[in-house]
Amino acid sequence: MCIISSGRPTEITHAYCKIVWIVGLPCDQVNTAIVTQIKTMGSYRLGPVTPSLVQSKHTSAPGQMESVNFTMSPTFRNLGCHLEGSSASAFWYSLMDNGTNYCNLYTVIQGSGLTRAPGFVEFSNEWLCLGYRRSTCQ
Ligand SMILES: *[C@@H]1O[C@H](CO)[C@@H](O)[C@H](O)[C@H]1NC(C)=O
Ligand SMILES: *[C@@H]1O[C@H](CO)[C@@H](O)[C@H](O)[C@H]1NC(C)=O
Repeated sequence: MCIISSGRPTEITHAYCKIVWIVGLPCDQVNTAIVTQIKTMGSYRLGPVTPSLVQSKHTSAPGQMESVNFTMSPTFRNLGCHLEGSSASAFWYSLMDNGTNYCNLYTVIQGSGLTRAPGFVEFSNEWLCLGYRRSTCQ
């Protein structure tokens, strides 16, 4: 398990990325957009889906897999959705992940069109997300 107890990089035991987005759409639309997008992406395998949690597994290279989750919770008066993405590599040797975990999250959100949704904002930093903003996603 990957545990961040105080957000310091030295306490990350596996390569890990966490991103928070706010989107000006109801969470059910956000959930549908993410599930639809993941189904189109060959390197992802959709896991259990509930209205508040979408689980998936991403294969970045043969034998190298990451757990990729999206959690939704409505914001004030359900006018928007607070969305949290987390991606974690299964193996310790992925610690130098070259942005894999960041891109696992970002490419889904970008592909789903949510980056163009009203009020879209993204929050993260280097402590929460390895390689944040230095990564070039393909
Ligand atoms: C995704 O959710 C499952 C079920 O709660 C959990 O076991 C797994 O560790 C989560 N993965 C990430 C990257 O948060
Ligand atoms: C990251 O990039 C370095 C240098 O190109 C490479 O040696 C290493 O295997 C890469 N790591 C992963 C997890 O792809």
